[in-house]
Amino acid sequence: MKVLANDGISKSGIVALEKAGFEVITTTVAQEQLINYINDNQISVLLVRSATTVRKDLIDACSSIKIIGRGGVGMDNIDVEYAREKGISVINTPAASSHSVAELVFAHFYGLARFLHNSNREMPLEGDTKFKALKKAYGKGVELKGKTLGVLGFGRIGQATAKVALGAGMKVIAFDPFMEKANLELEFFDGQKVNFEINTISKEEVLKQADFITLHVPAQKEYVIGAPEFELMKDGVFLANAARGGVVDEVALVKAIESGKVAGAALDVFEKEPTPEIQLLMNASLSLTPHTGAATNEAQDRIGTELAEQISSILG
Ligand SMILES: NC(=O)c1ccc[n+]([C@@H]2O[C@H](COP(=O)([O-])OP(=O)(O)OC[C@H]3O[C@@H](n4cnc5c(N)ncnc54)[C@H](O)[C@@H]3O)[C@@H](O)[C@H]2O)c1
Repeated sequence: MKVLANDGISKSGIVALEKAGFEVITTTVAQEQLINYINDNQISVLLVRSATTVRKDLIDACSSIKIIGRGGVGMDNIDVEYAREKGISVINTPAASSHSVAELVFAHFYGLARFLHNSNREMPLEGDTKFKALKKAYGKGVELKGKTLGVLGFGRIGQATAKVALGAGMKVIAFDPFMEKANLELEFFDGQKVNFEINTISKEEVLKQADFITLHVPAQKEYVIGAPEFELMKDGVFLANAARGGVVDEVALVKAIESGKVAGAALDVFEKEPTPEIQLLMNASLSLTPHTGAATNEAQDRIGTELAEQISSILG
């Protein structure tokens, strides 16, 4: 049977699929030629990421398709319900990138806590002429150990972030309207395990108590963090949004930075993607990444192998 990985797939995914007896095609077929290509080649499994769209017309036109797979989480580019009604299995890999996103949040937090985002900009320009001034400017760093991390949204990524925080010696508090508690298992290099049960508390309490706040909620109609929420936070708080653009009010964030309420913030996602506001891009208190939370080799490998496992068990 043939698998078309139209937006690419990791080497480990190809290996696992070939081992299970599938032929894997990694050609990127243009959207308008996709229906013909699938029919000409009798493709059984269509794998996509976010670039290729799989709408009703394609589903109706391509009777050879048995599985549609999305490497990653969001399935906005697939008519999922329609495909399922037609008896097609639709699969994704929601957990594969959780730890990668969690580590990116901590890369930002450690960077912000020691001004790395600024230091890396200034050292190439003035590191030889103003070394002492820069040393003074970046001399009041903070440690994360002993501080409180507030997690808003305690699902897969929120819990992965909490585990990293626990490993770093932080206290963890969390808010999630749909979860009372979570059991976190931390596994160490030598097989030792430690279990933590964390009971969620109110959003207000999280905002009041946390030194570092990180958002891991799905897309929402309203801001999760806006001006009233910033009011509740500690002075000098750090914030990270690696969830979705639009869950943090960016205008209120810039105001909260200017007032000193927020000491620094990390943004991996933006209200306007792929053209974030210039006021954000130029803000020295922001540590910025271009939506790369899930972009690690390990996450891509897990996506590939998880898809291969699911495909084999459905068609095997
Ligand atoms: N930066 C990246 O590259 C990247 C990569 C993957 C996922 N994401 C995003 O991360 C977010 C979380 O993903 P996940 O896999 O952990 O999802 P998840 O569904 O496992 O967890 C989301 C949690 O948020 C909770 N929640 C819903 N509304 C809430 C609210 N108003 N306040 C607090 N909690 C609320 C839900 O109950 C759920 O437990 C999603 O928005 C996803 O799009 C970003």
